[in-house]
Amino acid sequence: MLDYTRADFPEGFLFGASTSSYQIEGHSFGGAGPTHWDTFAATPGNVAHAQNGAVACDHYNRLDADLDLLKDANFDVYRFSTSWARVLPEGRGTVNEEGLDFYDRLVDGLLERGIKPAATLYHWELPVALADLGGWRNRDIASWFAEFTEVVMGRIGDRLWSAAPINEPWCVSWMSHFLGLHAPGLRDIRATARSMHHVLLAHGRAIEVMRGLGMSNLGAVCNFEYAAPADESAEAQKAAKLYDGYYNRFFLGAIFNRRYPEDVLEGLGPHLPDKWQDDMELIGQKVDWCGINYYTRKLLAPDTGPWPHHKEAPGHLPKTQVGWEIYPEGLYELLTRIQGGYTRDTPLYITENGLANDDRVSNGEVKDTKRIDFLNAHLKQVKRACDAGIPLKGYFTWSLMDNYEWSLGYAPRFGLIHVDFKSLERTPKASYHAFAKALA
Ligand code: NOJ
Repeated sequence: MLDYTRADFPEGFLFGASTSSYQIEGHSFGGAGPTHWDTFAATPGNVAHAQNGAVACDHYNRLDADLDLLKDANFDVYRFSTSWARVLPEGRGTVNEEGLDFYDRLVDGLLERGIKPAATLYHWELPVALADLGGWRNRDIASWFAEFTEVVMGRIGDRLWSAAPINEPWCVSWMSHFLGLHAPGLRDIRATARSMHHVLLAHGRAIEVMRGLGMSNLGAVCNFEYAAPADESAEAQKAAKLYDGYYNRFFLGAIFNRRYPEDVLEGLGPHLPDKWQDDMELIGQKVDWCGINYYTRKLLAPDTGPWPHHKEAPGHLPKTQVGWEIYPEGLYELLTRIQGGYTRDTPLYITENGLANDDRVSNGEVKDTKRIDFLNAHLKQVKRACDAGIPLKGYFTWSLMDNYEWSLGYAPRFGLIHVDFKSLERTPKASYHAFAKALA
């Protein structure tokens, strides 16, 4: 059972569940074009068992049944994403009408069930035609993204409750171009700096396009980790501060304060595109809300070698199936800092929070007690933030159903609904029933 019900949160507080296109739809269906995740997964060593999103949860073919499950859990909001290559198989130009029809049906299906549609335009799968042109390293991506925005929102923008351009800019840029962990799998500081800036530029252009279409309730979704020093030393503190800089403060600083943090510019400045300063007004135009994705904390220690001169250190807190430390207090601390230093009166939403667990079906049931404990511990911090006067307006959990966890493949289970990836059968877990009861 959840320790909380709606009544514990401010009037109008919204609860929701999140997913993303490539992770659930089944990218091989409905005329979608190839993406850089297909090629990344096809390259040995990148993804566990070389798994990809070709079938995923087969959500594309099971839309109505999945929306019924969403409704029966009593959620107010569904956060989903639109696949660029499903709508524009070449990234630009020719539109795949079948792809647009799918998102049309999705939005109407949500509205028919009384659920608010919250769309994210880009959740990580880039059409290969654009990846071939340099993808996020190429400044032109801002214009390509504006075209995609125009096409998608020209069709569904009139019925959305909210929209955000890009999910987790840090993952699109740093994790994919510096750590090499996600497509395109680069480890290159120049590519990183450029993609960090271009992802923000594309965000700005998309907001502009959506405003032009008369849309409202437009936001930005960033991911945050609570960065802590591995020990008391000044060097470890410096390491944690810098990690916090390029992970948490860089994107937030650009969108809400129109500047990049000085400590991050020391390392990335020489690699940023010329005259990046001229883009800050577009990047920092007003948004109506900020989405916060929060999962864990990181401990940092100094290291030799080039900037950023640090490494991650092991922590001692309980961990999830994917080895992430569970640290609910970090959510409250981050919310306080984000609101005080950046977003101020702008409404905040937790757009993702959840736990991976090796859930199994037994006698038709999934007893995911660990997930329920995780949710309770984080909802406690959410309530604490609301009580402290932070304008937090909703909490959306990741994820509605088990899905493709990127380079980790299908083993990590983040869902409220168990998916058997052979039969594709859905089994709502105990956490699903707990939400249904708490939100009734
Ligand atoms: C963040 C991402 O938005 C989502 O795609 C991913 O599956 C979850 N976190 C869990 O790692």
